[in-house]
Amino acid sequence: MAPKEWTVHNPGGSRRVIVTKELPGERWLDILIAADCAVEVCESSDVLTPDEIAERIGGSCNGAIGQLTEDWNAELFATLAAAGGTAYSNYAVGYNNVDVAGATAAAIPVGNTPGVLTETTAEMAVALTFSVGRRVVAGDRFMRSGRYEGWLPTLFMGKRFHRRTVGIIGAGRIGAAYGRMMVEGHKMDLVYFDPALNEELEQYIADYSAFLVANGEAPVSCRRVGSIEDVLTTSDVVSLHTVLDDSTVHLINAERLALMKPNAILVNTSRGPIIDETALIAHCRATPDFRVALDVFEIEPAMKPGLAELDNAVIVPHIASATRWTREGMATLAAANVAAVLRGFPVWESDDIAPFLSNDIPKAAPSIVNAADLT
Ligand code: DGY
Repeated sequence: MAPKEWTVHNPGGSRRVIVTKELPGERWLDILIAADCAVEVCESSDVLTPDEIAERIGGSCNGAIGQLTEDWNAELFATLAAAGGTAYSNYAVGYNNVDVAGATAAAIPVGNTPGVLTETTAEMAVALTFSVGRRVVAGDRFMRSGRYEGWLPTLFMGKRFHRRTVGIIGAGRIGAAYGRMMVEGHKMDLVYFDPALNEELEQYIADYSAFLVANGEAPVSCRRVGSIEDVLTTSDVVSLHTVLDDSTVHLINAERLALMKPNAILVNTSRGPIIDETALIAHCRATPDFRVALDVFEIEPAMKPGLAELDNAVIVPHIASATRWTREGMATLAAANVAAVLRGFPVWESDDIAPFLSNDIPKAAPSIVNAADLT
């Protein structure tokens, strides 16, 4: 494999940090330079292998910012620790690509970037819901191919969302934001499955429902159900917002797809392997009124055979967090994680990361996922 080009910023810095992809904005770089880091950024858009990253770490490296596409395994963390490394941040909120136990064994804190993706990712889940439900992408293809010959009563009939039921699997930050958007925007009832009660979400929807009733409208409801099956059987739209770990691989499989309404919509902006993509393709073929919208894929960047040919699927290339504000925010948080650890600052205690986006950046690491295990 040809060696990759790396750009070095602030070469005189006393600490060496590698960053495996170019990141948007400049603030992240300012944060690392203010922490006296020489910052080495890989210019290639190829996914770096652990060997390539280890080679760049070399004999002396203080910290790294890596990507969700890379395999940050225990060996790589041992290599970083052996080079004197004490800080790592994923440029992502998800960290299924990171062997956190391996990092902890190497005494390396693992940062991630929560808080700046919430609404952005939920907005994309909403956009996907409507794109596939109202046949926006199919209609666009139709227009561009010159096939539109005039208005027809039956042309591209889609799904109406108003007052139907939306289901979420995983009611954490992003799932709850999607749920609120669908309930508030379209007066839908919400059902959710999550091991934890989301009191804030339930209260929010109860308050919104009271507001509707006070204005002479029918209420909306929010119900936490006891199983994934309960969500699948009752919902018109189901959006997935779980983390990816051993317990969620193929959470949506052939049996569970068969439980969904034949004209339901399934949306996935979390991680691809949560759906058995082969089973999904078979289900979409056998159930033409069923619709699916995917931002993530089981073996990215590839798609399983047949997916690209499905008329009842909308597919986009893992762009749910792709707004400039969010991607620059992620860069800021990843850099702040690494800089703070290198400077010996504590971990930020609150879930509110907004202060890190202000000019006066707190003297803390915004989010370290293995903080409790390192003490
Ligand atoms: C993340 O941060 O985990 C997202 O998948 C990036 O879009």
